[in-house]
Amino acid sequence: MHVPVLVHEMLEIIRPHSGGIYLDGTLGAGGHSGAILQGSEPDGIVTAFDLDAAALSRASERLRSYGDRFRPVHGGFHQARDLLASTGVTSIDGAVLDLGLSSDQLEDADRGFSFRHGGPLDMRFDTSSGLRVTEYLDTLSVKRLEEILATYGEERYCKKLAVGIIRERDRGRLETTHDLAQVVSRILGTRRGRIHPATRTFQALRIAVNKEMENLATALEDIPLLLKPHARFCVISYHSLEDRQVKLSFRQRQKTSKIWRVVTPRPIRPSTEELKANPRARSAKMRALEALECTKSQTC
Ligand SMILES: C[S@@+](CC[C@H](N)C(=O)[O-])C[C@H]1O[C@@H](n2cnc3c(N)ncnc32)[C@H](O)[C@@H]1O
Repeated sequence: MHVPVLVHEMLEIIRPHSGGIYLDGTLGAGGHSGAILQGSEPDGIVTAFDLDAAALSRASERLRSYGDRFRPVHGGFHQARDLLASTGVTSIDGAVLDLGLSSDQLEDADRGFSFRHGGPLDMRFDTSSGLRVTEYLDTLSVKRLEEILATYGEERYCKKLAVGIIRERDRGRLETTHDLAQVVSRILGTRRGRIHPATRTFQALRIAVNKEMENLATALEDIPLLLKPHARFCVISYHSLEDRQVKLSFRQRQKTSKIWRVVTPRPIRPSTEELKANPRARSAKMRALEALECTKSQTC
């Protein structure tokens, strides 16, 4: 099961309390939601979103003992304003986003997130809508794929890879995760330091197909405006692109209005003990923003 990252640090920042209303924008296996529910006994409320219906139902089962204090919603954190409003919530006492994918998704071969497991080349968080990677690749030119690999994968050999991947696509030979991993390994060779040669390609395509950067940008715009005075918004990210976007957005807010305070001038990283217990936390960085006053979108 997915092991939640930076839970204690997140609790110290969010400071859940009874009667509070919280948003967990990325429910996953429910680790952060569970911790906030526990920290806001006896009557704090957590509304939690996930695009992955299977994750939502597994976590709902796990958190069933919290009754109607826990409110799972199938939807995206980029729709937070509208989804919360539809449940009657217009302001919150804290919010957390734990970006990317869970280990449960990574380990599930049928979801196609990992080159280590043979499966369909899918990678959608929401399997009920959008294009699978195979379908998405059909829409791309060599140039566009090159840009995606460069931007979202920070892949040095983006041009060579884009040409090779599109050639295999046109021959109808890209159906599975292993097909894609083999093409990349053939083009780049198998030895590339510590990471598998296909790591960056898989990351880039996952980010593109799920519109992760666009969704994060919307959430960074909208979620702070839902915070009550002294409420905080925590974002845990796993690669430099996301972290840079969060850092710049929080700094920009602090610079342009005295309503905002960056709680974490430097990102919070997992402790040595956490890394020992959960090596998958190694790239995690957490940043937080606080609303010092009532934001324009609220009546406080
Ligand atoms: C790292 S996991 C979260 C793990 C969770 N914090 C826990 O403790 O188990 C990220 C989750 O976010 C979901 N996700 C990704 N993008 C999303 C979005 N735009 N809106 C809602 N959920 C999203 C993924 O489906 C995945 O389940």
